[in-house]
Amino acid sequence: MARKITKAVFPVAGLGTRFLPATKSIPKEIMTLVDRPLIQYAIDEARAAGIKEFIFVTSRGKGALEDYFDHAPELENSLRKKKKINLLQELKSTNMDSGVIAYIRQHRALGLGHAVWCARRLITPNESFAVILPDDVIEAEKPCLQQMVEAYEETGGSMVAAMEVPPEKASAYGVLDIKEDMGSIVSVKGMIEKPDQDVAPSNLAVIGRYILSNDVLRNLNKIKSGTGGEVQLTDAIAAEIDADRDVYGFRFRGQRFDCGSKAGFLQATVAFGLAREELADEFFEYLSHMVSERHAAE
Ligand code: G1P
Repeated sequence: MARKITKAVFPVAGLGTRFLPATKSIPKEIMTLVDRPLIQYAIDEARAAGIKEFIFVTSRGKGALEDYFDHAPELENSLRKKKKINLLQELKSTNMDSGVIAYIRQHRALGLGHAVWCARRLITPNESFAVILPDDVIEAEKPCLQQMVEAYEETGGSMVAAMEVPPEKASAYGVLDIKEDMGSIVSVKGMIEKPDQDVAPSNLAVIGRYILSNDVLRNLNKIKSGTGGEVQLTDAIAAEIDADRDVYGFRFRGQRFDCGSKAGFLQATVAFGLAREELADEFFEYLSHMVSERHAAE
């Protein structure tokens, strides 16, 4: 059976209240790590995994996101005239062909499961698809979704990215109940969204990359609101297990940054800044200087 994943859903309807006042006028997905908006990292990862169609689930106030993916002919011309070829290439690498992006509105903030469900008509019946949460930025030699697509070619079913977190942090995530641990792949016998610490089945947490069978969309037709009064994607995936269909967790190789939090965003900024050849030396020197000054002051 061919197991090709060519569509990805990007739920980007969230209000980004944790980044107010910045998010008063810019979508949080446009906030930049070094010089690229968060959404660009997600798109690049999707492209590397073979995704050809990109479905954005947006909401009011996300116009800047749509503009970001438009071509910018005036800017391109001006860079061409000034012979700024590197910048021109950089700009062009973000261009998307006509018709490969679709925008769907989520009219009410009813949760991640509801956001994914909003994309249902753009996914062909029986087609499996990917979901990427752009808040979770993953630095990896081989992009995380690509690792998952390769694993999924072997397993089929539905698959979520997974990572061990400190037990006291598990209640901030979807958490996996492990059936069989095979190393990078685990088969799953249950999934709970944001469990209390004393009932968390493990400390293996769901991270924002998913490959989902079409049945998950069908489950979402029936799922009632769960944790936090929201329709949870976790519940719709857990319903797959109840229906005796396979669900896997995938321990990816890479470093995940929670760019939905200020601390995570700052950590990502440092990591991605240090990873840039043109910035690394100067930035490292500055950071070392700052750290030694702080130590000296203590
Ligand atoms: C969402 C999911 C959760 C997952 C997390 C990963 O939660 O509902 O299962 O563990 O993303 O970042 P959120 O962080 O949007 O509350």
